[in-house]
Amino acid sequence: MRISTILLAAVCSTLPSLTLCIDNATTQACNSLKLIFNTKLFFPGDANYTSENEHFWTPTDYLSPACVFAPEGASDVSAAVKFLSKLRATFAVRGGGHMPIPGYANIDGGVLIGLTNLRQIQLSEDKSYVSIGPGLRWEEVYDYLEPYGLIALGGRVGSVGVPGLLLGGGISFYSNQYGFASDNVIAYEVVLASGQIVTANSTQYSDLFWALKGGGNSFGIVTRFDLLTYSSPTICAGITEIPSTEKGAFLSAVANFGQYGDADSKAAVIPSIFMLGSLNLTVYTSALFYDGTNCSQSALANFTAIPSIMNTYGSTTLAAYVKGTDALIADGTRQAFRVMSSFANAESLEIVHDTFVEMVTTEIWNITGLQASVAFQPVTRNFIQQGISKGGNPQAVDLESAPYFWMVENFSWTDSADDDRIFAFAVEVTAVIEGKLEAAGQAAKYKYMNDAGLGQQIFQNYGPGNLVKLKAIRAKYDPFNVYTDLMPGGWKVDG
Ligand SMILES: Cc1cc2nc3c(=O)[nH]c(=O)nc-3n(C[C@H](O)[C@H](O)[C@H](O)COP(=O)(O)OP(=O)(O)OC[C@H]3O[C@@H](n4cnc5c(N)ncnc54)[C@H](O)[C@@H]3O)c2cc1C
Ligand SMILES: *[C@@H]1O[C@H](CO)[C@@H](O)[C@H](O)[C@H]1NC(C)=O
Ligand SMILES: *[C@@H]1O[C@H](CO)[C@@H](O)[C@H](O)[C@H]1NC(C)=O
Ligand SMILES: *[C@@H]1O[C@H](CO)[C@@H](O)[C@H](O)[C@H]1NC(C)=O
Ligand SMILES: *[C@@H]1O[C@H](CO)[C@@H](O)[C@H](O)[C@H]1NC(C)=O
Ligand SMILES: *[C@@H]1O[C@H](CO)[C@@H](O)[C@H](O)[C@H]1NC(C)=O
Ligand SMILES: *[C@@H]1O[C@H](CO)[C@@H](O)[C@H](O)[C@H]1NC(C)=O
Ligand SMILES: *[C@@H]1O[C@H](CO)[C@@H](O)[C@H](O)[C@H]1NC(C)=O
Ligand SMILES: *[C@@H]1O[C@H](CO)[C@@H](O)[C@H](O)[C@H]1NC(C)=O
Repeated sequence: MRISTILLAAVCSTLPSLTLCIDNATTQACNSLKLIFNTKLFFPGDANYTSENEHFWTPTDYLSPACVFAPEGASDVSAAVKFLSKLRATFAVRGGGHMPIPGYANIDGGVLIGLTNLRQIQLSEDKSYVSIGPGLRWEEVYDYLEPYGLIALGGRVGSVGVPGLLLGGGISFYSNQYGFASDNVIAYEVVLASGQIVTANSTQYSDLFWALKGGGNSFGIVTRFDLLTYSSPTICAGITEIPSTEKGAFLSAVANFGQYGDADSKAAVIPSIFMLGSLNLTVYTSALFYDGTNCSQSALANFTAIPSIMNTYGSTTLAAYVKGTDALIADGTRQAFRVMSSFANAESLEIVHDTFVEMVTTEIWNITGLQASVAFQPVTRNFIQQGISKGGNPQAVDLESAPYFWMVENFSWTDSADDDRIFAFAVEVTAVIEGKLEAAGQAAKYKYMNDAGLGQQIFQNYGPGNLVKLKAIRAKYDPFNVYTDLMPGGWKVDG
């Protein structure tokens, strides 16, 4: 058995077109990887298989991979990619497992590469950047940097994974000051489709470097991100909850922040409509943030002045703040996202708010465990300008039409029997809202990849010409479509 598997693996890696090999490339790949990597390769029934397959934010992402590979470094990833591509076996790559689209970071019947053990983290000698492995979550990055009084741009929720967030852009509490999180990456270590391990920065592999700042997973598997650090030893942050009776004051605070948020780029807010079906309850929750020690800031005064049910805004650190909020956004329920975008003004807000609340209460209010929310992420001109100043990115969001609201609808529920009904509703409510925004001349073009749901258009809305450029870079570094055809999950520039 052992000999024949080795022989078969050897034969199939030189002659992958043999019927014997095509027959089940996945089985061949799993068996070969098992022989080479033994303790890092898991089959169904192993406890590690289960923990890797369930290392996701939502059970909608648990699938049935044929086996799971848990590499421990870039050279392991490289060896696996060479095997998989020779055998033409399908696979998926998972970082923190927070992208809630089934099959985008997992796979049925293929090899799941779980990056869990790529956990290196190292501050550069001059402390200007930190090198981070893709197995880390943002809370671990913030914890590591806290003793130095430093931060890096990453998730506003600590459990989110490093790699997926950075490959789609990344909206941080510091984005009003410094741009997308990915605008602050100065180098990527990447395993190319050939298995070659390269470092892309602004002077070598500069086309690949540019593509990775928002082009997703079509180009390679990133095994290290070098990310700029900033001094931010203490911050002000917290959550406020405002009753639905304060709708007018809430929406006006959001509209004003959207329009005038540039006045103080150290301030950030994530205002949301939060609806709970079982309690027949709608409230407005906002994360409030200020990069500094003095928490009484006029930039946030319109929010803090509204009578609240709860308000935890106060002095803290980024690491401590994300620890405190993780529990509010626990893993384990079924989830779907949908992204929308508009110009930042009161008319857009009114359309989104009224349409969403009305349709949720009339169409899906009785779904078991339903939580439905819309978060309005205000995106200032300075946010966009920072990306341009730092060398540009594939998103190339239009500066002239800024500021924007980039909105994410989140749906969360408990019973898989309701999946289809929720997915259909998410598509419908988004189409209705987008139709109204369009009619009012308030619809904006760019849609943020990491907040999107299945079937939404992403790269088509990037800056003019950039999708064509991304496709050319993809073809140059992956001429045989390894990361497009063999690794089908994720937002692809071709496909
Ligand atoms: C609770 C919650 C809070 C969030 N908060 C924020 C926020 O504050 N700001 C923000 O911008 N976004 C936020 N997001 C969205 C988040 O950025 C995306 O879900 C992101 O994809 C998560 O990264 P991950 O590594 O956990 O994802 P995964 O699901 O592991 O991966 C996402 C995609 O990236 C690919 N991928 C993963 N690792 C690699 C790699 N090393 N090389 C190549 N491809 C890879 C996967 O194949 C997959 O297609 C949030 C999401 C959730 C669920
Ligand atoms: C397998 O699981 C154990 C227990 O969680 C863990 O300590 C070990 O690191 C895992 N092995 C690999 C290769 O991930
Ligand atoms: C190959 O075998 C694996 C494991 O038995 C299975 O999950 C997968 O569906 C098979 N693939 C094909 C194409 O038959
Ligand atoms: C890019 O990497 C190369 C090789 O490590 C290095 O010589 C060069 O200085 C780097 N460029 C920048 C802008 O850091
Ligand atoms: C739910 O709340 C709304 C107003 O907030 C109220 O009009 C309605 O009657 C309530 N429905 C139920 C079933 O209690
Ligand atoms: C904090 O800032 C506000 C306005 O920016 C100012 O009025 C106040 O005096 C400051 N408080 C302290 C303690 O410095
Ligand atoms: C607060 O609201 C007032 C009027 O409602 C507005 O003039 C002001 O610009 C707002 N301030 C901020 C920082 O949004
Ligand atoms: C839930 O609501 C929908 C439409 O509002 C209705 O068709 C359905 O019968 C309701 N289901 C239950 C279990 O009440
Ligand atoms: C909704 O999704 C966004 C991710 O883009 C996240 O920041 C937010 O915390 C989520 N909200 C809930 C309630 O899950």
